[in-house]
Amino acid sequence: MQRTIAGRRVLITGASSGIGRALALALAAKGARLAVAARTESALLTLAAEITAAGGITPVVLVTDLSVPGNAEALAHRAVTELGGVDILVNNAGVGCFGFQWNVGDREEGREVYETNFWSPLALIRELVPQMRARGTGLVVNVSSLMQLRTWPGLGYYASSKSALAAMTETLRLELMGSRIGVMELLPGPVDTQFLSEAAHSPGARHILKNLPIGDTEKLAVAAVRAIEQGRRRLVYPRRLVAALYLPMLVRFKAARTVRGAAADIDVDDARVLRSGSAGDPVARQARAEWALAHRRAS
Ligand SMILES: NC(=O)c1ccc[n+]([C@@H]2O[C@H](COP(=O)([O-])OP(=O)(O)OC[C@H]3O[C@@H](n4cnc5c(N)ncnc54)[C@H](OP(=O)(O)O)[C@@H]3O)[C@@H](O)[C@H]2O)c1
Repeated sequence: MQRTIAGRRVLITGASSGIGRALALALAAKGARLAVAARTESALLTLAAEITAAGGITPVVLVTDLSVPGNAEALAHRAVTELGGVDILVNNAGVGCFGFQWNVGDREEGREVYETNFWSPLALIRELVPQMRARGTGLVVNVSSLMQLRTWPGLGYYASSKSALAAMTETLRLELMGSRIGVMELLPGPVDTQFLSEAAHSPGARHILKNLPIGDTEKLAVAAVRAIEQGRRRLVYPRRLVAALYLPMLVRFKAARTVRGAAADIDVDDARVLRSGSAGDPVARQARAEWALAHRRAS
């Protein structure tokens, strides 16, 4: 099914940086009317100004913390009020936490990952899909991760939250089969963002990342917009990693040595439990600041 983006009302979470920001710019360039959501208001306002300056429709800025239960529901209401409805929901906001299971257990840090990466997308779906069904049209785009196929020590909360989101995305597609509401899963592999710069600091990461292609947010956004227009169900980016989706056992087998290398490189007595993201622990925020500085210098 071909889709046009011009004039569509889009709610996109996690638009203040990285992949979400690039998606917002690419969708606005196609004429979408956006509501952009995240915690960092200044970054959302900068994005809104950039879109306006480029001739796009000025987005509505919605500041919210999706790690807090109830906020996703409120966000959906605000987006509907501001835009008059939501035609395309992009569930992109995501965080991780670093810590071994015997230290994190069901602590707040682990629960926050699930609230942001899993429960908030579902809350937004619960609020917005019934309205799409009533209109007989709509699209849900869930940003999962190729880490749904390959976890690594200390990052199980992130990987499992993305596996859970991927399973619910596939379920939603089946539930909406026969309707005119589309469901697309965007599966990024490593993409050069502040989030990846944090992940790269986690123990064992150098083993995992060393042989992987690192993608670029703008190219990802161009490919994602094309996939939305073409009515695709899934997009793996970078494309070189598409085999991971269709031959997961082979990929697991091939990656086993690397992951064993990573596992051997970690200190199991490391009792740290670290939040990622712009509101994360100092080590995460430092990695993000270094990334931002290096990218400012390069541009
Ligand atoms: N980069 C990669 O290699 C990679 C690979 C696979 C999947 N992904 C997924 O791609 C998505 C975007 O990640 P990214 O790489 O672009 O990282 P990023 O630059 O850190 O972006 C994450 C976005 O999520 C928002 N966010 C995080 N916690 C939030 C919260 N509690 N409430 C509201 N918004 C929140 C952040 O905004 P604020 O901090 O301003 O709230 C930011 O806009 C995530 O779902 C991530 O899991 C990334």
